[in-house]
This record gives sequence, structure tokens and C-alpha cells, in this order.
Amino acid sequence: MTLRIEQLQHTYLKGTPMQHTALVDVSFELAPGECVAVVGVSGSGKSTLSRIVAGLLAPTGGKVVLDGVDVTAAKALGAWGRRFKALGRWLCALLNPRHWLAGRHWTVKRGRHGPKVQTPPRLRPVMLAFQNPEDQFFTTCVMEEVAVGLVPILPPGVSGAGMTIHELLAAPPPDVVEALRLVELDPARYGSRDPFTLSGGEQRRLALAVLLARRPRVLVLDEPSAGLDDPGRARLYACIERVRNEQRTAVLIVSHDLEEVAAIAERVIVLADGRVAAAGATGEVLLDAELLTRAGLAAPPLVRLRAALAARGHVLGGDWLDVERAALALAPALGVSAAERRDAARA
Ligand SMILES: Nc1ncnc2c1ncn2[C@@H]1O[C@H](COP(=O)(O)OP(=O)(O)OP(=O)(O)O)[C@@H](O)[C@H]1O
Ligand SMILES: [Mg+2]
Repeated sequence: MTLRIEQLQHTYLKGTPMQHTALVDVSFELAPGECVAVVGVSGSGKSTLSRIVAGLLAPTGGKVVLDGVDVTAAKALGAWGRRFKALGRWLCALLNPRHWLAGRHWTVKRGRHGPKVQTPPRLRPVMLAFQNPEDQFFTTCVMEEVAVGLVPILPPGVSGAGMTIHELLAAPPPDVVEALRLVELDPARYGSRDPFTLSGGEQRRLALAVLLARRPRVLVLDEPSAGLDDPGRARLYACIERVRNEQRTAVLIVSHDLEEVAAIAERVIVLADGRVAAAGATGEVLLDAELLTRAGLAAPPLVRLRAALAARGHVLGGDWLDVERAALALAPALGVSAAERRDAARA
């Protein structure tokens, strides 16, 4: 699975006095299991990009291509357009019974001219987690929160096709169990809990499980660790890593936090005024303090320290994205012996 973003353009309120161009000529690729971060100052177009990638917003130009199939969201139709389209679908269904059974993806629509993607409605190839996704919980039980939409859940006393909460807790569907395992929420311990009684970190992981149960091939995460403390972040990053390794899910994260980006992304795209100001391996982009400053971003503190030392004539090489490696690069300048450096590296 490869997601290709081709020359995306987006202009809000086009043709009106409030017209605003949010994205200009943005292109990149995302391979299976890869994690790419999009960084940029407020208003640089990050959320616009993530909504277009997830098929929630139709761009004014360019394409989103998944495995060679154009999955760009179609432009929303007006009331008459919707009626004509519904009439067309009804006529097609009348003439061709195969259309009666055709599964239809309910968010990512197909381009008008592209080949048809037969995706069962419960599987969504690209899923977006908005910032603070736990605000959207709406059930009273963890298991139901993950399973809702995948199996019909019957209210108490109602019988029919579907499962009651008791049946769901006794025999949860495999996709639900797998999603909870990936985010380290044991179904036996957490399944019957009210989502709002979970800790902040657990709620964030549950929100991730809700997406994972739909088996997405691409996850788009907007500020995934906002508001979490260090242990909560570390656990969330471990879950994201597990999903990438085990399911080969590609992850696109939108983040202001360059330390977070350094911790989980392999590649970084810097957006400035809706354009790609820089793109490359995380180590290369984040170590370029000048480039980040030009894009209006503050480089991570260790990178700023390295630039400040260089300005005073102490040009030091090495990887300065985490404390341990920065200490190794700094040690020779402080007169630490090679043997001590080796011991520190082993520790
Ligand atoms: N529905 C809209 N109508 C008009 N302009 C919009 C709309 N949504 C966003 N914009 C404008 O497009 C630009 C990019 O917005 P976007 O939300 O993508 O930025 P962002 O990089 O996500 O910012 P932040 O980091 O603050 O979330 C902004 O100038 C914003 O005001
Ligand atoms: Mg945003």
C-alpha cells in the first residue's frame, strides 16, 4: 500500500472576497509502516492537509492516490446535484442488480473518472484522529465504544440481528480484541469500564483503538500526544510503533512538538504558508536550525544548543536529537576520555 499525494492545492471560499489559499502544490508519498510528520506554524495548512488526506475535504486541485486508485474526496454536491446523483444511482441499481449489493466507503469518495473501489463499508483505508479524540466518546462502555458501527448493538430487551452489551463483553469480535491489544488495554480489565473513567493516557489509547478496529491502512493523527505527560506519551508512542510494525499501517502525524517528531517520525515535511518548505529524513530536517527558524519554528533545545556552540566556534558533529547522543557528541569537547564515553554509551 502506498499513499501518494499529488500536487494538492486548496483554496477556501474560492471566488469570494474571503478567498484564502491554504495549500499550494503539496506532494509526498507514504509507504506501508512508515511514519511521516507534518510540521509548521499555526495556519500553515497542516489540518487542511490532514482533512484532505482523510477524505473529509475535497481539494481544489491535486489528487490523493491509494495503491494507484484515486481516492480524492469528491466535491460536495448541492441539493439538486444530490437529487440527480441519487436518481442516477437508483436507475443504475434498477438496471444492474449487482449495484444493490455494492459496498460503498462512506467518507473517502472516488474521483468521478477513477476505477471503482469495492471497499466494505466498515473498512476505511484512511482514518483521521482529530486533536483530543477522547472528546468524541459517546458510549458508556469501552468495548461498545470500539465495537460500535462494526456490529449492531441491541438495546436491553430488544432481540434481532446484533449483539447485546452482555454478549459483546462475553464474546467480543476479533477486530475489537486485536485493537484493544494493540493499545495495551486488556479487554477483561477495561472492557466494561466507562470510557470517561479512564485516565487521560488510557483514553487517548482507547481513541486509537476505535480507529484501529476499522483496520485502516493509513492513520492520520493530529497532535497525538497533546496534553499527556512523559510516561503517557512514551506508552502512546510504543502503541503507534507496534501498529506500524505489526499491521504495516502508515502513519501521518501533524505536530507542533519537534521532540515528539524526533521520537517517532522517519521523515518530516515542513509546511510554510501552505507550501512544502523542506522535506527529508528527520535527522536532517530537525538538525537544520536555520531552516526551521526560516519556517517560523523553534528548533529543539539540543539543536539550538549545538547552533549556539557553533556560533562560538565549537562546531560539533553527531546526532543531537536526544540527550544521550548529544552527550556523546559533547563529551570529547569537555575532555571526557574515549573509555568513559564507551561506558556512558553502554549504560
Ligand atoms: N473553513 C475555512 N474557511 C476559510 N479559511 C479557512 C478554513 N479553514 C482553515 N482556513 C484557513 O486556512 C489556513 C490554514 O488553516 P489550517 O487549519 O490548515 O492551519 P494549521 O496549520 O492546522 O493551523 P494550527 O496549527 O493552528 O491548527 C488558515 O489561515 C485558516 O484560517
Ligand atoms: Mg490545525
